[in-house]
Parts: sequence; C-alpha cells; structure tokens
Amino acid sequence: MNAKEIRQSFIEYFEKKQHRFVRSSSVAPLDDPTLLFTNAGMNQFKPIFLGDKEIDYTRAVNSQKCIRVSGKHNDLEEVGVDTFHHTFFEMLGNWSFGDYYKSEAIQWAWELFTDVWKLDKNRLWATVYEEDDEAFELWSKVTDISPDRILRCGKKDNFWEMGETGPCGPCSEIHYYIGDDLSKQTADGVNVTDEYWELWNLVFIQYHRDETGKLNDLPAKHVDTGAGFERIVTVMEGKTSNYDTDLFMPIITKMEEISGKSYKDDPVPFRVIADHIRMLSFSIADGAMPSNEGRGYVLRRILRRAARFGRILGLKDPFVYELVDSVGEILGETFPEIIDKRKHIQNVIKAEETSFNATLDRGLGHFDRIVKTLKSNIIPGEEAFRLYDTYGFPLDLTELIAREKGLSVDIAGFDSAMTDQKTRAKAAGKFKHESSSIDWKINTQGSDSEFIGYTSLSTDSIIRRWSIQGDQLLVILDKTPFYAESGGQIGDNGTIVNGGIDLQIIDAKKDENVFIHVCEGDFDESFANQSVHCTVDIKRRQAIKLNHTATHLLHKALREELGDHVHQAGSLVSPDYLRFDLTHFEKIASDEIERVEMSVNQEILKNIQLDISVHSFDEARKAGAEALFGEKYGDEVRVVTIGNYSKELCGGIHVERTGDIGAFKIIEESSLAAGVRRIVAITGLKALQLMQKNFALIKSVQEQLKCTPDEIHERIEGLFKKQKELEKAFKQWRSGSALNSRTIASEAEVIHGKNVVIKEISAISMDELKALGDELIPALKSGIGVIGMKGDKKPTIVVVVTPDLVKSGIHAGKLAREIGSVMGAGGGGKPHLATAGGRNNDDLGKAISASKNIVENVLANMVPPKDQDDV
Ligand code: SER
Repeated sequence: MNAKEIRQSFIEYFEKKQHRFVRSSSVAPLDDPTLLFTNAGMNQFKPIFLGDKEIDYTRAVNSQKCIRVSGKHNDLEEVGVDTFHHTFFEMLGNWSFGDYYKSEAIQWAWELFTDVWKLDKNRLWATVYEEDDEAFELWSKVTDISPDRILRCGKKDNFWEMGETGPCGPCSEIHYYIGDDLSKQTADGVNVTDEYWELWNLVFIQYHRDETGKLNDLPAKHVDTGAGFERIVTVMEGKTSNYDTDLFMPIITKMEEISGKSYKDDPVPFRVIADHIRMLSFSIADGAMPSNEGRGYVLRRILRRAARFGRILGLKDPFVYELVDSVGEILGETFPEIIDKRKHIQNVIKAEETSFNATLDRGLGHFDRIVKTLKSNIIPGEEAFRLYDTYGFPLDLTELIAREKGLSVDIAGFDSAMTDQKTRAKAAGKFKHESSSIDWKINTQGSDSEFIGYTSLSTDSIIRRWSIQGDQLLVILDKTPFYAESGGQIGDNGTIVNGGIDLQIIDAKKDENVFIHVCEGDFDESFANQSVHCTVDIKRRQAIKLNHTATHLLHKALREELGDHVHQAGSLVSPDYLRFDLTHFEKIASDEIERVEMSVNQEILKNIQLDISVHSFDEARKAGAEALFGEKYGDEVRVVTIGNYSKELCGGIHVERTGDIGAFKIIEESSLAAGVRRIVAITGLKALQLMQKNFALIKSVQEQLKCTPDEIHERIEGLFKKQKELEKAFKQWRSGSALNSRTIASEAEVIHGKNVVIKEISAISMDELKALGDELIPALKSGIGVIGMKGDKKPTIVVVVTPDLVKSGIHAGKLAREIGSVMGAGGGGKPHLATAGGRNNDDLGKAISASKNIVENVLANMVPPKDQDDV
C-alpha cells in the first residue's frame, strides 16, 4: 500500500464501524486566537467534549493536519536530526463522543494494526497509565498481545492533555520496534530509546482541567485517538525513516535536482527542508502569513531555518518556494487547498526568502566573527540579540547554529537585551498613554471611565483625574461618551464645558479600561472634581460610523472575491475615509475592485438592520464570528452581525442599518509590504461628491472633445496620434525653413569680430529650442547665439557659445543668468549652452533687445586665449 491507500484504508476501516468521516480543520485557525496552530486532532472537537456543541453523530474518523512547533507539544529540535519528528504531520484518528470507550478503542486499534495491516505482533508494545487497571486488563482480554508486552507507565507518557487547560484523560499507546534485531527488544526501551516509535495514542477523555489546574469530570466519556500517519506509512512500507517514504521522497528528489547534492551524503539539511516546506505550505494555504508576531513569527522562524539549511547545500538563491509543487503532488488530492493556493504559497515564500537572503550571509559571517572572539563556549546574550535585530536571526536559529558548533546561547542575556530595546522604543514614543506612566492629579471620589458612548452622545460627568503632559492636557472622567481609539476606529472629538471650563477634546485614547481624553483649553486645578457637560462631535462620529460598518462589509466582500487567505492586517476608521490592509499577494485588479465595490453597495442597498450583542467568546466563535488574530479578547465579546453577510467581534461604533452608509467607493489600492495590500475607501456623501465631481469632469471633457463618454479614449488616442504626425511633419518642414540652424546662423551680424545672432523664433518646445541651439554652435563657427521662444505662458531663451569663445572665458550660463534677470527670473547652465526663463511671455521682447548689449559687453571685454595672442 502506498501512503494514500494507507490513509484511505484507515478511514474505511472506521467507516465500516459506523464512523462519520470529518474533514481536517484548518491548521491555522484564524477564528481561534487562543491557539497558535492546530496541534491535535481533537482541537476541532473540543466543544463537543465540553458539552458546548451538539452534533448528530457519535463516532467520527479523520485525518487532521497538525503543526507542533511551540508550546506543550513541541519537537522542533528533533526535526530532521531524527527521522520521525515533524513540524507538520497528519494525525489519523477515530473518535467516540459519549459512545464506545476503552474496550472497543483497544480492540479495533489492535485489529487494524495486526489483522488488516499485518504489522508484526513481535514488534508491537502497549502502554497504559499506571493507575488505569481497566485498560491494563482490557489489553489481555480483547487482544492477543503477549502479556509481557503490556506496560504501565507514568503521567508524563500516559496521561494526555491538550494544553494547560482543556479536555484530558489517561491514555494507552501502541509502540513499534523499528530496530533490526527483534531479540534486542526490552520493556525498558519503550518510551526511552528512539528504536521504539509511538504509533498510536488512544486517549480516554473523561476530565476537563480548568484554569486552577483542577480536574473536573466531563458530562460524558469519550475516545480520542491519534495515530502518526507518517510513521505508520514508514513501517508499512518497510522503511526506517519517514523521509524515505512516498510522503517525502518527491520533495527530496526535487531538492537534489535543484542543489546537485545527494541526499545520502548529507541527509539532515534535506530532511529539515522537506519537513519545513510542508509546514509552510499548509499554514500559508490556511491563511497564515509570515510576520513579526505570534503565529506569523513561527512561520518566519521555520522559513529562515529552511533558508539557512539551504546554505549548507550551497543554495544561495531563493529555492524553498520551488518545492511547493512537490508538496502538491504528494498531498494535493487529499488536501486540495495546496493546489488551489499554490501560486499564493509560492509568492509568500519567495518574498520571505528573498528578504532574508539579503542578510543571511552577513549574519553567518557575523556569527563566525563572534565565535572567533569567544572566551567561553557561550554566545553572549547581546550578540544573539544583535543577530536577531540586525540580521533577522530568530533566537532558535542562533541556538541551532551554536549547537552545531558545540556552543550554547545566553538566553537570559538575550531576553534582557530585548527588554532594554522595548523600553528604549517606548521612551522614544511620542504620546505615552500608558495610564500608569502618567503623573495624575487624582480626586478621591468614585471610579473611572464608565463608557456610555454606545447609546449616548452627551452626558454630565465628573473630572476624576487630570495631568499636563508637555503641551497636552489629559483628562479622565467618571463616565464618558467619547469613544477611545481602538480596533482601528479613531477617538472621538467633542467638548467638555461648564461655566468657566471650556475644553476641546482632540483625541481619546484607551489604556485597558481607562479612557484618556486629550484636550485643548485652559485648565485650572479648581476644575477637578467638578461636574461638566460632555458632548461628542456628532457629525464627525456619524462619519466614523459609516466608515466602520463599511469596513466590515469590505472585509467580507474581499474574502468572497479574493479567497479565504484574505485577512485583516490592519485598519483605520476615520471620519474622512477608511483604510483596510489585507493579506493578499497580487495587485487587486480593477475588475476585482469593481466587484468588491458592487458587493458592498448591494449590502448597503439591502438596508440590513445590524445586530450588536454581547456573547461569551466561545459562543461567538461557535456562531462563526470572525476574530482578528493577535487581538486580545476577554471572556465577553461584542459581536457585530450584518444579516447573513458578516459577523465580526468588534468593540467599535456602527450604523443602525447598512442603508445609512449611503454609498461606498474605493479610491486607492496599493502595496503596503510583501503580501499585504492597502485599500482606501470613502462612504456616504463624500463618495457621492467624488462621483459627482468625476461625472462633471467627464462631462466637460466630453463636451470639449465633442463625443460620448465611451468615445473619450478613442478621441484622446486619435489626438495623440495626430500630434505625433504633426511633430514629424513639422520637423521635416523645419529642415528646409527659416527655423533651420543654418538659416538662423546666416542672419548673424559681426560684433567685435565674432558672429552674433539674437532672435526670437517659434519653436514648439523647449527641447526643440535646445536642439536648435546645439545645431547653431557649429553653424556660427565662432560667436554667440541667443534664441528665445514664447511658451504657453512663460518665455524661454537658449544661449550658446562656440568652443573657441568658451576657451576665452565666455560662459553661456553667466550670460543666461543676466538675460534671465531682465525677464524677472533667472538662468544658468553649461559654458557652451544654457537656458534662461521668464515669468511672462510679454517680457521676451525686452530680454531679446537687452541681449545685444549684454553680448557686446562680454565680447568687448573678452581676453583672447594665449595661443590666439601669439598668432
Ligand atoms: N489527542 C491525542 C494526541 O494528540 C490523540 O489524538 O496524541
């Protein structure tokens, strides 16, 4: 059986036992910011175990895409060094939701392994949790495993937990002896040496560990099994390395082809890269993007590791992206997203590789220099930080290279250099709105910042705290109607007044739950603790609301038009416009923009009533609300629902009905960074005004061109064509006309023995005037030319001086400056050719007349060069 057949046979085995096949969930769950990556098959079933979700089946079978690179289950250091740990792997599983339990789970696992797949019973071992007598006995009762192959193990190996909290329970594992000599097997080696591979973990879920660490009984008992697909394929195909199977070999072969190196000669870099490209391809296909934070930084770390191992194979140009097709070949049929998103994945990886390549070699060079000056075998923390900060080396990459050289890294030193930098960055920040860092004058009564701005736009409040920071007055109220900047929506403006108090709010910021109002106006200590009347600038707030709701519609429309890889990478909601940054690799084409605009406007026209309600975070996610990765959400979240169209977690202010937005128009689409596009759009009357303005513009152009709007392009093209033809004809005519440089030169008069021509001509452009000037130099032989033309509004003069006079010290630039000053402007240029400008065509005549005196003067005072003197 090949890998695909093995996966299929697992699924079919359990389907025959009434299990429902469930597709793998996303490996980068963007709707669950609490989870970096899907790290086990059970992630998507967690709500079922907890009794939060009801389903109409009790048995399931699946093959889940998993990533383990950080947190509790993390094998990164082993990856590629050994032959059976991965950052990305598939976990085959059978599931019972309150249905069968230990007995069936054990019996079926054994039956599939030994009867169906015919794995050698003399290589298999079973482990149970040391306190789980029931499972221990069941192994003897429901399988024919030899009793000496059933082992009791401790909590570390046989009590499975998803994370610090969550569903958990005792487990029973099946291990496989991978060594050559069966007689060398001993019970002591299981869970200890790499010769025994854990193939299948049967977890008997019966508890939920809560935040306090306490184990609580679940409403029902469940089975969660996880079998390592890659390892099973290896033993079924009679291999001893996962990388030697059909799940990895096509990638490795491709790498051999690209590098010209042999896998057998130096397997580790091949293995690491083959592993990492799978992780990168699947996480990017599911919407993750490299970045400097959270999940995105994990991608960046993995990609940089791959690039660095590429250097060991002598690969200097980006190459990792070239392996995406091989991943598609192997897994594309099972996971079509790899094929669908192929181009996007390649683009993302290539851009990342290209940018890291720029610093990788210099970083490696710096690493070598550090090693040379080391006095111990520890890389100092500040050097590791320098590698991180200047050369983009993630800490684990530095650790890895250090390890290869028998060195270690001072992690504490690295952390403290990082903290220092953050402190410096904070200190350099302009407006400090961390409430705790502000020296507040505090009143004692009451509490701060009850926000009432969702429903009220004015209120009477008490000034609770105030502080003067530079030229800014900061005020905290007991209750406030002013929205403070968050979630992209900017802070409200407004007024705080009462008798002698008259403050303008120019911004409102938030630090956790404290609203800080940035005010203009005079403040007197006596104002503190006074009751004041607060009013939000309603017109401005209204404009912000339109843009905020339009942002949600735009987000959804973009995902529908461009694909699920689109995620919000930043936003700004202001009264004048909205700005939306999205993860997308290509320029958004104009027809795509049009369709997005149309979808948003259609939702506006439907005039949908918005539903804004507060739910528990889990409830909201269950209902499919879009959460923004990296945002911090509390237990209670506000969900903004726009019909069936959009559902987002959002604390911002919105219109009541989509119709309030009126109109929506995208005015800009640009690239912000690799893989991130920026859209700027306007709404309401602003959008309408722009459309009116553009319509009027087109109308006037149309009137000028005397055509219909559809004909404008054609007309303009026709005009350009005609102009080119005319220019060509004009040039031809000029060569035989008075505008010819020879003809102009023939009009020269002799002044102080030199040929001088000063003339206004009707050239068609400045370039033409200069070209004529150039031609005039040889035609004059020895002399000075001043030719001028009128432009659309302003005149231009070109002054030329023949080479012999340049040698005598006459400088065209100086002459041009003098002539330009006659026209009230200036001039300058090279010794042989210069230009002078004017402000008004009417001044050209004056300058031309003055030129004669200027030139005469220069020639009269000319000092001939020495060689001419001698003649
Ligand atoms: N949850 C268990 C594991 O991840 C079995 O699926 O190993």
